[in-house]
Amino acid sequence: MLIINIKGLVGMHPKETLVLRGSEMANLPILENAWLLLENGLIKDFGLMDNCPSEKETLNAEGKFVFPSWCDSHTHIVFAASREEEFVMKIAGKTYEDIATAGGGILNSAHKLQKATENELFESASLRLKDMIRQGTGAVEIKSGYGLTVESELKMLRVIQRLKSAFPIPIKATFLAAHTYPAEYKNNHHGYINLIINEMLPAVAEEKLADYIDVFCEKGFFSVAETDEILSAAAKYGLKPKIHANQLSVSGGAQIGVKNNAISVDHLEETDAEVLAILASGNTIATLLPSCSFYLNIPFANARGLLNANVAVALATDYNPGSTPSGNMNFVVSLACIKLKMLPEEAINASTLNGAAAMEMSHEMGSIAIGKKANLFMTKAMPSLAFLPYSFGQSQIETIILNGEIYNG
Ligand code: NIG
Ligand code: FE
Repeated sequence: MLIINIKGLVGMHPKETLVLRGSEMANLPILENAWLLLENGLIKDFGLMDNCPSEKETLNAEGKFVFPSWCDSHTHIVFAASREEEFVMKIAGKTYEDIATAGGGILNSAHKLQKATENELFESASLRLKDMIRQGTGAVEIKSGYGLTVESELKMLRVIQRLKSAFPIPIKATFLAAHTYPAEYKNNHHGYINLIINEMLPAVAEEKLADYIDVFCEKGFFSVAETDEILSAAAKYGLKPKIHANQLSVSGGAQIGVKNNAISVDHLEETDAEVLAILASGNTIATLLPSCSFYLNIPFANARGLLNANVAVALATDYNPGSTPSGNMNFVVSLACIKLKMLPEEAINASTLNGAAAMEMSHEMGSIAIGKKANLFMTKAMPSLAFLPYSFGQSQIETIILNGEIYNG
């Protein structure tokens, strides 16, 4: 397929650029009045309309922009039921922690998930994933963490494997049994950690069900020492960390993530100078989730501080029933501009190339480069690039292309 008359072809970073740090993130290469050739599911070539090749199958993009797909590197889209009753409790003044302490929150989702069948979970997650794809997402990471028993954690991960086979986009799976303590282990943390280490991890590794390990490192959830123990055990099975850190407090999560060579530390609504310095010192990506801040009414992450410290910043949705019931990357990009004060170019790089890097996929996703996977979206006619985040809450996306073909799913 040949896309012609493209008003702006967005994100042609050199193929060898796998991640962008700090000030590099303001650079988003754009080719105006361009064509893009897709072949065998990959990007074959691109150039200026002055030298346009001819091709049978063409798509006219006059007035429109072509972007690499959003790469959403942090989601929890396998869940059994929504939690709008907690939404109403929050409106009435309860906090996320209040609800969790009262047995709501993650435990509420776990009880429901334990009762659901693998098929039911697959069907409902498929609907969510289809919606996300229609909103421009072309690669995704999905976590377990609502099972909290050997059987139900494996059930969740098997659902993610089925999504991998059923959907035309790359998917990474993350094992997050350390999401919260099941009620029966409330006063026996080590009992649950032993279950994770001695029973769940070997089974997950045996069936090759996960690419990464995650821990919710937070006051009232998993301590720094507990997180360290789980990450070290997972490393023996080759699972690299992508962890929840500093969502509700400066928890020490960023430090323990960097120490364990985490691919990313995610959330970071709470940071201090030490967190910025530790992230600046390594290759761990800071993944920010502004729609979680928006929904929970908690602080927005210090993106400018991270960028000034030369950290690589990614953006993701965190789609889950408790803290972010939305998988819309367009809204994330708008919030990043409006609330994190990221420039449109920075927010787009964070949602494409750096999102791909936060899933170790940036060799094949996240930018317009010859040989990369042809997962793209074409916008409606737009006056400029910044119009996309500016027109928040509205979709500017007109056509989804996955593996070089128009997606109508
Ligand atoms: O990333 N913080 C931990 N996990 C999810 C929320 C889980 C839930 O409330 O169900 C998050 O925000
Ligand atoms: Fe999360």
